[in-house]
Amino acid sequence: MRPEPEATTKLRLVGELAVLRSKTMEDAEADYSWRVDSELAALDATRPVTLTFTEYMRYHRDDVNYPSPWSVRMAIDTLDGHHIGNCMYYDINAEKSQCELGIMIGDRAYWSKGYGTDVIKVALAHIFTATNLERVYLHTLTSNFRAQKSFAKAGFIAVHKVKRDGYEFVFMEIWRKQWTANSAKLARSTSADVSAATAPTPSVSRAETDPLLGS
Ligand SMILES: CC(C)(COP(=O)(O)OP(=O)(O)OC[C@H]1O[C@@H](n2cnc3c(N)ncnc32)[C@H](O)[C@@H]1OP(=O)(O)O)[C@@H](O)C(=O)NCCC(=O)NCCS
Repeated sequence: MRPEPEATTKLRLVGELAVLRSKTMEDAEADYSWRVDSELAALDATRPVTLTFTEYMRYHRDDVNYPSPWSVRMAIDTLDGHHIGNCMYYDINAEKSQCELGIMIGDRAYWSKGYGTDVIKVALAHIFTATNLERVYLHTLTSNFRAQKSFAKAGFIAVHKVKRDGYEFVFMEIWRKQWTANSAKLARSTSADVSAATAPTPSVSRAETDPLLGS
């Protein structure tokens, strides 16, 4: 059963800082350099790849040419087209109406600059508008504070801790109704900002309203 017909079509999702797009053969070299990186592997509770680049290319070619209907793999580019990482949603389960989300910014120069949060928001907006899935969840190491903060800023809620294969993870999730409420709140605050910015300047000066300033 194919859970989502859009899963195999070409994607291009534009955020404020980054673009999510379908994977291409040209991504192989950067992807390989990130997959053999032991620090990146450790942050994702996995082991670095030990394949040669030629062996890796076979897997990469299959992933690009024959994408699984159960997962959607996307590259993360900066707005000017520099490939900095990857994001995927996978274990798409139509019966449970859920999928898991994963992200890896491989280029360290782009850590802690808001790219991860932007990408996660864009991915969630896509999942909750282009599919019928009700819940997106993830596991991140309890020691990975940067990832937890980024996921929380994008709307994920920490639910509980999970021990698996000797690692301890925080299980986080967001439901469609939470995402919808967050989006509505954001839209309201944005329109309030616009009204404040376009409102006429009050005639009362700060000195008249702030007793500490006096006259
Ligand atoms: C995890 C990841 C996607 C986050 O993306 P990012 O662009 O680096 O994160 P953001 O800038 O959007 O948000 C990170 C937040 O954590 C904060 N942060 C960074 N290091 C931190 C730390 N050690 N403790 C607490 N907060 C930290 C940042 O200051 C930022 O918060 P702020 O915007 O309020 O200042 C990215 O760093 C990454 O891919 N890292 C390598 C692989 C990885 O860890 N993948 C996740 C596997 S689940």
